[in-house]
Amino acid sequence: MALADRPLLGWNSWNCFLTAEERADFTGLTAEAILGCAQALVDSGMRDAGYEYVVLDDGWQADHRDSTGRLLAHPTRFPDGIAPLAEQIHALGLRFGLYAVPGSLTCAQQYDDYGGAPLGSLNHEELDAQTFAEWGVDFLKYDWCRADHNDGLTAIDAFTRMRRELDRIDRPVAYAISEYGRFEPWLWAPRIAHMWRTTDDLLPTWASLMRTLDLQADLAAYSRPGAWNDPDMLQVGNGALTDGENRAHFYLWAVLNAPLIAGNDLRTMTAGVRDLLCDPEVIAVNQDWGGRQGTRIGPAGAGEVWAKPMSDGGAAVVLLNRSDAPLEITATAEDLNLKTAPRTVREAATTETSSFEGRLRRLVAPHDATLLRLS
Ligand code: GLA
Repeated sequence: MALADRPLLGWNSWNCFLTAEERADFTGLTAEAILGCAQALVDSGMRDAGYEYVVLDDGWQADHRDSTGRLLAHPTRFPDGIAPLAEQIHALGLRFGLYAVPGSLTCAQQYDDYGGAPLGSLNHEELDAQTFAEWGVDFLKYDWCRADHNDGLTAIDAFTRMRRELDRIDRPVAYAISEYGRFEPWLWAPRIAHMWRTTDDLLPTWASLMRTLDLQADLAAYSRPGAWNDPDMLQVGNGALTDGENRAHFYLWAVLNAPLIAGNDLRTMTAGVRDLLCDPEVIAVNQDWGGRQGTRIGPAGAGEVWAKPMSDGGAAVVLLNRSDAPLEITATAEDLNLKTAPRTVREAATTETSSFEGRLRRLVAPHDATLLRLS
């Protein structure tokens, strides 16, 4: 199977070790913590559920390159360097990802006392791609960060430069680019990258989830196997998100065929969060390609219907209650525009199956969602 034929599944360090509010604090980010999360990915059953990549985000670098211009790992956070870490992650049956930027300075250099050495890959693309290959990197998150440190390169040129270098190394690397949806990446990124961010950073709040969701409504035409819209990494299990909010978030990202990159502390997650992230019904919906990613069916509002076609001719449907009160949400077969009339409905949460009588009707709790499979 080709790289990223299905939305990538994994875990990334950023959302749990750093938050937008505490950007200066990298204290939790160590080799030990990353390995602990990788081990938890295995022990929790997430690896076996399909989560494959462990991605080390920003904050891994030393504050300078070596005398030959090579990137170095942070001396106290990753004292043994990156290659041994990648090796240990590989030994767990996982793949390893790393963060870099196309400009001269990384995002962390805005809020850590890193100083101004060129830790970004601008004009170091060839050497950095070679270094990543030598270290055993399988996934590169390449993050635009600061437009004022890109030597005037356009985003498309900057991201293409690294694409060319990745093509020249002898290692398949999943390429995830991020310019926060500023330059309509869905129009050009499918030719360069396996996934591209469509929005600013997702925060662990209901408001941020809903704002980000709204920005996905018009993007269904642009993704396909090998090239995915990325509404940002999961915040499931983070902040003060409730069980219902976590559920709605996960179901919605699943029907969007979004890469499912968990961002919670896997070492301390609750059984409820683990069970949600491992739910085989939801992961199967996410990984299935029915010809188009999911989108909003019908009007935006307090109660919404999001649906994606499934390859079996049926559909996966999320009934979403955005409001603060319980709400009855309905959808008909015509709303879903299916080629063949579905006969059965299955609830993802309970796997209970009933016959489909032409209309879905569910009472959904506030800030919650129900995921249904029509076959
Ligand atoms: C940006 C990205 C985040 C994260 C940080 C790291 O904000 O959008 O996902 O990678 O940079 O500094």
